[in-house]
Amino acid sequence: MSSKVNYLSCPDLSKARLKGDGTKVVPFDMEPDHRLIEAYKGKKYFIKTYGCQGNVRDEETMAGLLEALGMERTSRPSESKISIVNTCAVRENAESKVYGEIGKFKSIKEKDKDFVLCVSGCMMQEEGKANLIVDSYPQVSIVFGTHNINSLYDLLLENLLKKERFVDVRSFPGEIVEGLPYKRLLPYKAYVDISYGCDKFCTYCIVPYTRGRERSRRMGDILAECKKLYAEGYQEVTLLGQNVNSYGKDIGEYGFSDLLEEVAKIGIPRIRFLTSHPFDFEHSMLEAIAKYPNIMPWIHLPLQSGSDDMLRRMGRRYTQKEYLSLVEDIRRTIPGVSLSTDIIVGFPNETDEDFDATLEVAKQVAYESAFTFIYSPRNGTPAARIKDNVSDKIKHERFVRLTKVIEASVEKSSDLMVGNTYDVLVDGPSKRDKEVLSGYTEGNKLVNFKGPQYLVGCIVPVKIIESHTYSLIGELVGDPLLHKAKFVGDLLRRDPVVEEYQRVDQAIKEDGKLMEAIDSLPQVKKDAALSIGSLNYEEKRNTLLKLEDMLNTHPMIKNRENLYSQIQDLIEELRGILS
Ligand code: 5AD
Ligand code: SF4
Repeated sequence: MSSKVNYLSCPDLSKARLKGDGTKVVPFDMEPDHRLIEAYKGKKYFIKTYGCQGNVRDEETMAGLLEALGMERTSRPSESKISIVNTCAVRENAESKVYGEIGKFKSIKEKDKDFVLCVSGCMMQEEGKANLIVDSYPQVSIVFGTHNINSLYDLLLENLLKKERFVDVRSFPGEIVEGLPYKRLLPYKAYVDISYGCDKFCTYCIVPYTRGRERSRRMGDILAECKKLYAEGYQEVTLLGQNVNSYGKDIGEYGFSDLLEEVAKIGIPRIRFLTSHPFDFEHSMLEAIAKYPNIMPWIHLPLQSGSDDMLRRMGRRYTQKEYLSLVEDIRRTIPGVSLSTDIIVGFPNETDEDFDATLEVAKQVAYESAFTFIYSPRNGTPAARIKDNVSDKIKHERFVRLTKVIEASVEKSSDLMVGNTYDVLVDGPSKRDKEVLSGYTEGNKLVNFKGPQYLVGCIVPVKIIESHTYSLIGELVGDPLLHKAKFVGDLLRRDPVVEEYQRVDQAIKEDGKLMEAIDSLPQVKKDAALSIGSLNYEEKRNTLLKLEDMLNTHPMIKNRENLYSQIQDLIEELRGILS
């Protein structure tokens, strides 16, 4: 079964560190080859993604490429003709899961020799991993990396024509590819990449090697994507970057607060952003968040460690004091803000004092939520070369102690919410009980409550009645049908046809002569009617006919009528959604 492996390119960590000569933007304008369409049209594809939101967004691009071949998504790998395992490399346990997942495809490939398994994502960008995968798993046909998702068609075609296996993992991302197709996973909340890669090189982190140096997308491209999401009715957009706060530094014309303001002005009800690096956080960003009610009062601000010595050795570029003063500024500028964080326990040679400093900061900040990790050495990173004197047992004990401190503040913040009502964007019925919906508050707290499934994708008020550590129980406030009707009304308002109608209507109202003619019509009609049988009937009738003719043929009025009839069709469609 195992055929020849063609290595078109392999990752090289020394190249992965290199910075490009400015960000080059290249358009993706590749039409799929007709032979690919003939082979895969009407067939199914399956994608399993591990890791962060960046990987989820990449999955949408891969799905878009496959759907452009006429393929359909399936949740059952055994039904698929093409499957992709999209991997994560940030910690060892993420990698272990990938091997198990790839193993599951062995029997599928044995039954169907034309079945194509691709492996992609961050883990493939590590030196040696792609070779290991193709050597150990003959069911894998194609390996590609994070920088060349746009090579998928070429690789699929080569594989189709030659029946050989291909590894193409590039290391040097000198460019940003715009215009790739995508298929969104959800119709009401979306991720939008604002930058790729990371320039911070924290000593424990593999991301700058797997995702490359930081490249910001052009503001115009980001805004165009957000405007499209707005017109499509999206309720929430999360702007994604490994370090959103340094957005635009490579372009030099605008920064993250400028982008935030421009995105907020589009009018999408909820804007979020991930992830903030304390080093690049500027007060102007807080002012933008405070100014626009649709920028959610939630900031994910990784601490990693509370000890200055650890922070220095992690290469984080801030001290405990600087972090705490930023937190103070955030809490002062954005009242009611929710703060979440990432903390690593057991970085090499972490002392009891270092760890105590982390506990102290966690207590002082009183995070509304947090992700805690035990340090996992990543080959190729500076920290992986440090000889560590801390045992796994101590690391686990520290992890448990930290979890307790975090849970105490999470619980406290949840308890304070009981009795109050919050807007919740409804995600979907719970797997266990179809009548129970779940969703997130503006501060990113998970709430479960009873309600009809048709509320999925709507923002509804929910009163919190019970608090659990990691979720809240609530009660829907008000009539669910009215919430749905409001949602549908909002969709209608956002439709470009409605916007165009309002624009044309406004232009007509501002045209003094035209309005005079429109306003005079009832009187001119009346005069003509009253003059029937009198001498000036002909004259009055002619005036009326001329006026009606002018109004009926006026381009602006014709345009408005045409748009109005399109709106009637839209309303019919929305009536369908409501019923
Ligand atoms: N070990 C443990 N945790 C890590 N993270 C990144 N690299 C490692 C590592 N080698 C954590 C950091 C980061 C989050 C996404 O993953 O806390 O913020
Ligand atoms: Fe990794 Fe640090 Fe960059 Fe975050 S800021 S992606 S932890 S290198």
